Amino acid sequence: MSEPRASLARQAAGDLDKLVSELVANGHITDPRWQAAFSAVPRHLFVPRFYRGDQQGTSIVDSTAGDQWLSAVYSDIHLVTTEDVRSSSTAPSLMAGMLQALELSGNERVLEIGTGTGYNAALLSERLGPDQVVSVDIDPELVAQARSRLETAGYRPLLAVADGVNGYPDAGPYDAVIATCRLDYVPAAWLQQLRPGGVIVTPLGAGVAVVRKGATGEAAGQFLPISAYFMPLRHQPEPEVVGEAIQVALNGVGVSRAYRFDASIYRDNEARFWLDLTSPDVRVMTVDGVSVAIRPDGSWARLADGLVTQGGAGTVWSDVEAAHGDWLAAGRPPREEHRLVISDAGQDVFLVGRSSPIHRLKPLPD
Ligand SMILES: C[S@@+](CC[C@H](N)C(=O)[O-])C[C@H]1O[C@@H](n2cnc3c(N)ncnc32)[C@H](O)[C@@H]1O
Repeated sequence: MSEPRASLARQAAGDLDKLVSELVANGHITDPRWQAAFSAVPRHLFVPRFYRGDQQGTSIVDSTAGDQWLSAVYSDIHLVTTEDVRSSSTAPSLMAGMLQALELSGNERVLEIGTGTGYNAALLSERLGPDQVVSVDIDPELVAQARSRLETAGYRPLLAVADGVNGYPDAGPYDAVIATCRLDYVPAAWLQQLRPGGVIVTPLGAGVAVVRKGATGEAAGQFLPISAYFMPLRHQPEPEVVGEAIQVALNGVGVSRAYRFDASIYRDNEARFWLDLTSPDVRVMTVDGVSVAIRPDGSWARLADGLVTQGGAGTVWSDVEAAHGDWLAAGRPPREEHRLVISDAGQDVFLVGRSSPIHRLKPLPD
C-alpha cells in the first residue's frame, strides 16, 4: 500500500472507531453483533464522494477535500451520493435502528430494497454472510458501483437491477425484507416472498414500520420511535409538473379564508408522521417566504398573512387541517403508538390499544 493510502486507511480506521463508539454511547447501537458489523465495514469505501448543496449551488466533496470528506463520512449524517439526489447513504444511527429491528439471529436470508451505495448490503453481509444477502436497486449505475465497492470490501452478496415493488422472487423466500426508500404502502410481493414468522422493516411515510408475518399470511406490528425521511420509491415515472403546480399555487385565484393551522405543523416531527401517513400525496413547501401545498389531483393552497387561498380540484389545505385536527384530538400520539395491520382486507393503521383503524393505506398504482 502506498503511504498516502496507508495514511488514509489509518485515519479512516480511527474515525470509524470513534463513530461506532458514539453510536453505542448514544444508544443507537445496542446489539454487540451489530457493533461488530459496523466496526468491520469502512463507510468511506461506499461513499467515495457526496454532494452538498448550499446557496452557491451543489458541490462535490471527495477525497481531494481531505478531512472534510472523511469527517463527514464518519459522522452520523446522511449524505447525498448522486447529483440528481436520487440516492444517498442513510445516517448510520437510522441504519442501525432499522437493522436491529430485524432481530436477526444470524442464519436468516434477507432481501434489501434500495442497494444505493452498497453500505447497508455490506453490513448485512458482514453479519449474515454474503450468501444470505440479496439487494436490489432500480438504478443500474448504482448497482454496478455498489457491486465493485462491495467486492473491494470483500463481500459478494447477490445484487440485481429490479423494481423493488416486485421484491426479488428468484432468490426467495426470505426471512426478512428491509427497505431503504420511502413507501406509503407495503407491496404484496414482499409478503408473498416472506416466510411465515419473517419480518419486514420499511420506511412508511415519515416513520419505519416493523411487521411480522403470521402463520395465515397476515402481518402486523408497530412503528419504531424514530423519524425517517427517506428518498421515495421510484415506481412509476412521475409527471414533471411540480414546477407548474407551484406557480399555480403561488399565483392562482382561489377562495380565501383565515387558516386554522399554518405550514409549521409540518415541522413537528410527530404531527408530520400522522400527516404523511394520512395525506401522503400532499407536498408542502415554502417559496420566497410563502407556504404552498399541492396535490396530484390539481388541488393547491397558498398560505400568507393569516389567510389560506385554495383552488383546483379539491381543498388540499382543508384536508390537511382536518387530518391535523384528528391528530390533536387523538392526544398527539407519537410514531411508536401506531400499529400497522396487513390483511386480505387492506393495510390499516391503528393506535395501539384501539380497535378501529385511524387510516387505511392507499395501494400503490400497478
Ligand atoms: C436511501 S437510498 C438507499 C441507501 C442504501 N441502502 C445504502 O446503504 O447506501 C434509496 C435507494 O432506493 C433506490 N430505489 C428507489 N426506487 C426503487 C425501486 N422501485 N426499486 C428498487 N430500488 C429503488 C434508489 O435508487 C436509491 O438508491
